[in-house]
Amino acid sequence: MEKTLVLIKPDAIERKLMGEIISIYENNNLNITEIKLLKPSVTIAEEHYYEHRDKPFFRELIDYITRGKVCALIIEGEGVIETVRRINGATDPKKAAANTIRGKYALSKEENCVHASDSRESAEREIKIWFN
Ligand code: PPS
Repeated sequence: MEKTLVLIKPDAIERKLMGEIISIYENNNLNITEIKLLKPSVTIAEEHYYEHRDKPFFRELIDYITRGKVCALIIEGEGVIETVRRINGATDPKKAAANTIRGKYALSKEENCVHASDSRESAEREIKIWFN
């Protein structure tokens, strides 16, 4: 069965949106099979965002994701990677549809509430980082 890694990011936790976001996944009939709340270390954050290490915003991204608690979820189901990315909406809230999580709640490209794996390979790699 396909799996994806979702992170509910610090801006969403700080604004008490964790329950609302989890409900959105459940109301879409998705199965959450693992869940944990943690303050990520810089090591975990750098591993997770490794592919962006040369981007100009990399340090800001690491500071942001490690500034508070993150809720990590594994969601399982047929086609779940694509379904979750559709529910999350575009990275940039200006481009996200109004009925998506980011369209409703994201503040910026950085403070955009949620992360989800973009492929089976990423999901496998990211699940190992957060749930090893
Ligand atoms: S890129 O450049 O197209 O690969 O980046 P993108 O896929 O849009 O975003 C990758 C993750 O980086 C975050 N991001 C940013 N953080 C800080 N500042 C800026 N300008 C910025 N742009 C993008 C974005 O939220 C993505 O996080 P995840 O967790 O992967 O969704």
